[in-house]
Order: sequence, then structure tokens, then C-alpha cells
Amino acid sequence: MAAEPLIKVENLVKHFVVRLGAFGERGATVYAVDDVSFDIFAGETLSLVGESGCGKSTTGFTLLNLQKATSGKVIFQGENIVSLDEKRMRPYRRELQIVFQDPYSTLNPRMTIGEVVGEPILFHKLATKAELPECVSRLLADVGLPARFAQRYPHELSGGQRQRVAIARALACQPKFIVCDEAISALDVSVQAQIINLLLDLQEKYGLTYLFIAHDLAVVRHISTRVGVMYLGRMAELATREQLFSNPLHPYTRALLSAVPEADPELEKTRQRQILTGDVPSPLAPPAGCRFHTRCPIAMDKCKAVVPEWREVVPGHHVSCHAVGMETAG
Ligand SMILES: Nc1ncnc2c1ncn2[C@@H]1O[C@H](COP(=O)(O)OP(=O)(O)OP(=O)(O)O)[C@@H](O)[C@H]1O
Ligand SMILES: [Mg+2]
Repeated sequence: MAAEPLIKVENLVKHFVVRLGAFGERGATVYAVDDVSFDIFAGETLSLVGESGCGKSTTGFTLLNLQKATSGKVIFQGENIVSLDEKRMRPYRRELQIVFQDPYSTLNPRMTIGEVVGEPILFHKLATKAELPECVSRLLADVGLPARFAQRYPHELSGGQRQRVAIARALACQPKFIVCDEAISALDVSVQAQIINLLLDLQEKYGLTYLFIAHDLAVVRHISTRVGVMYLGRMAELATREQLFSNPLHPYTRALLSAVPEADPELEKTRQRQILTGDVPSPLAPPAGCRFHTRCPIAMDKCKAVVPEWREVVPGHHVSCHAVGMETAG
């Protein structure tokens, strides 16, 4: 892992103002992402996990400046990209790509696969029209599709093949960084494995950096360099994959991981499942103090009032929990 981050996310905040009530008569704020800071290192796969609605996708969209950040910074190549308007953002757009869960909704049904993959090449002037068929064939080969697929339309492809096309389209931009937002979640398990292997091969071949948003912890454990755990718009814990899975520190991470079956049947027999009680609170009115305190099995009075600091407790292992380190500190 390089020492200098490729992307630095500093105190990123994204609030949505929404209208509530039958006639939209009341305004309210959704605290979707609230003061999140982390680095993304070149060549790594940083995964984001957490329950539905905790702000993973919003973090991905906001850090790519696809949604305007409410506040905070995202530093890429010395520039705070979230402060840029679309025109000044253009040079960075090519290098920062995203692949979504459902490529069917993002691939234009009236364009052939060749046009879908070729469009960004022409837009960013990465090749001439004459060179285009050759470029498209090479990209299709990169994602394991035959060149003749260039003549086909999205509806003529399987889900896995469409996801390969979406990846080829992202690759066509020669990016440095790709956000994969649940990019494999809609696929069959066997196809998931193929797409994961494809992403890993491409990462090695082109030195790509991924922000991998997923809910399947077994997959996350397989592919991540580091893992960030989000809860209700905040980062609860961030560590290397080894640290996080062998020594989770945040009570929320512990609960989340306890739900993952062990591959080893002996370990599986002894696995203690920790069921979280209570619902996830509304992001319209997140709890004061630590947002997890309403469901935390070890919450103290302080947790109800004081927001826990985001601390690096051992090198590379960040956590926001008042209880962590108490036994050694006292
Ligand atoms: N455009 C929007 N307007 C209003 N609220 C939004 C908008 N987009 C997201 N939200 C809200 O922000 C919160 C975070 O949503 P987000 O989609 O980032 O969660 P997520 O972690 O990606 O969830 P999932 O696992 O279901 O994809 C949710 O409460 C969601 O309803
Ligand atoms: Mg999402």
C-alpha cells in the first residue's frame, strides 16, 4: 500500500432536505452522511459495509461529486474536487468512475455494446474514430467478452454479461479509481464469483483502486484490503481486513460479523450470534451522542450525550466508541 493516499476524504457531510407530510408542508433533514473521514490508498480495495440506509451509496456519490457535498473535502490530485462545478470537474471525471448494481438501468437500451463502450473513448478523446473498433475489441476482451458482442444490444445479454459491459465502459475511461456500488449484488452466486475475479484481475493489470460497497460480508472478506463499517451516516470502524475480521472493536461491527457463518464447521458450532435489538433509528432524527447507543449492548451514560471521537487505537485501526480502550486506559 502506498503511503500517500490517492483520495483523502475529510469531514464529508451530505444532508438531504426533504418535504414531509401529505402535502409536503414540513421540511426535514436526512443526515445521510455526517462527518466521515478516511483515506483511500492507491491500489487498494476499500470496502464499505453497514445496514441498508446507513449512507454507503451517498458516500460514494458525494465523494465522486455526483451529488453536491453539504460540507467537507475530498482531495484528489491536490484538488478539493467536491468544490468544483461540472466544467472544472471534467478533467477528473475520466479518472473517477462508478459501476452500479443494475447495469440494465444504466446502459442505454438503444445503443449497441460497441457504442456503449466506445462513447466515453470518443468523449474523452482517448482514440480516433478509426482506432475505435480495435479499442472496443480490446476492452471487451479485457472483461472476457468476444469482440462480436460489440454488435449486440443490452437486452441480448445476461445479467453477468451486462455487468461486464458496464465494467468495460468504466475501463474505457482509463480510470484510476472505481466505485463499485453493489456491483455484484444482483447476480447469481456463481456469476458473482466470476465478476469478483474479473475485478481483481483488472485491478492488478491496471493498478486500479476500488471503493467497494457491499452488504455480503463473505465477499468483502475475500476481496478487501481494508474495510469501513458505517452506521447511520457515520463511520463506526475502519481497519485492515485482517484486523477487522479477527479483532473487531466496535460493538456494532461485532454484531454485524457475528451474523456471518464460519466456513470451518468446528468454528461454526461455537459461533455466538449476537442479535441486535431495536430498529435502526431514522436518519431524519438520529440519536444524540453515539448514534448506536440505542441498540448497543454496552452503552454507558456518556454514549447518550457525547459523540465518540474518531480515533486510531492501534496503527491502521480506527474506531469511534467510548468503550474501546477503557480497560487499558483505566
Ligand atoms: N436523494 C435523496 N433524497 C433524500 N434522501 C436520500 C436521498 N438519497 C439517499 N437518501 C437517504 O439517505 C440515507 C442513506 O442512503 P444511502 O442510499 O446512501 O444508503 P445505503 O447505505 O447505500 O443503503 P443500501 O444498502 O440500501 O443501498 C437513507 O436514509 C436514504 O433514504
Ligand atoms: Mg446503496
